[in-house]
Amino acid sequence: MCEASAPDARPFLEVSNLTLQYKTARYLVTATSNIGFHADSFDRLILLGPSGCGKSTILKAVGGYIKPAGGEIRLQGKLVTKPGADRGMVFQEFDQLLPWKTALENIVFAVTSAGRLPRRQAVAEAREWLHKVNLTAFENSYPHELSGGMKQRVAIARCLALRSPVILMDEPFASLDAFSRSAMQEELLSLWEENRRTLIFVTHSIEEALILGTRIILFSSHPGQVRAEFTPVRRDTAQGLRGKEVRERIEHLLFQDRVDYAI
Ligand SMILES: Nc1ncnc2c1ncn2[C@@H]1O[C@H](COP(=O)(O)OP(=O)(O)OP(=O)(O)O)[C@@H](O)[C@H]1O
Ligand SMILES: [Mg+2]
Repeated sequence: MCEASAPDARPFLEVSNLTLQYKTARYLVTATSNIGFHADSFDRLILLGPSGCGKSTILKAVGGYIKPAGGEIRLQGKLVTKPGADRGMVFQEFDQLLPWKTALENIVFAVTSAGRLPRRQAVAEAREWLHKVNLTAFENSYPHELSGGMKQRVAIARCLALRSPVILMDEPFASLDAFSRSAMQEELLSLWEENRRTLIFVTHSIEEALILGTRIILFSSHPGQVRAEFTPVRRDTAQGLRGKEVRERIEHLLFQDRVDYAI
């Protein structure tokens, strides 16, 4: 039997009136203006939208790497002000590994310095993760010896090895070939089934959003605004939408935006 949640229970992640800007001496860019959305714990929340709409900026703000110019982000009711061990992140940029450490040591270092495991166990676990991302043969390679997609897979393994309750991933599979991408999507879903956490995942692929998401936030073009929200996976419930229906609506909205933009 399900327990009814308290009427005043706050969502796990609450983004309210969020404005994010890049300020330099010469210019100010507003990446997102006054946006709001939320996620429940154990959601696989997808941030979907065209290039430049602010997806990476929003994810970095949830990670605590960018401070809001307006509005706020709350995780379990607590204001996000800086990065924390409760959030693991895979950035879109390829150069996120420590260049002076091997693939294996990048993972071991993250796990031991977070205090999750002593070194010997961290090494064993890091090897398991490298196996899962198909990089066993490269455990002693340094980042400059790896391709972009391989570096990204080490970063994914490092993030998952941390086992943080919130996982933030910015287009982590974009540089992978179709076969590896599909395998990584499967791996991510089965990991999520094994050990449910909150996943916030950025992509501009509608296909990927539908495979991975329990909830999709669709953003319009720069500066990003929330265009629509979908809960495609609740297919068996009255409020849920079927994958095909969601795909058609998203394509329609993106097409409309493009027409508006062109005018
Ligand atoms: N470091 C920066 N300095 C100044 N402007 C930036 C910076 N990073 C991003 N921007 C601007 O902020 C806006 C949002 O960028 P962001 O990288 O968040 O978009 P995105 O949705 O992740 O795009 P993509 O799908 O191409 O990765 C863009 O207009 C971009 O030019
Ligand atoms: Mg981006």
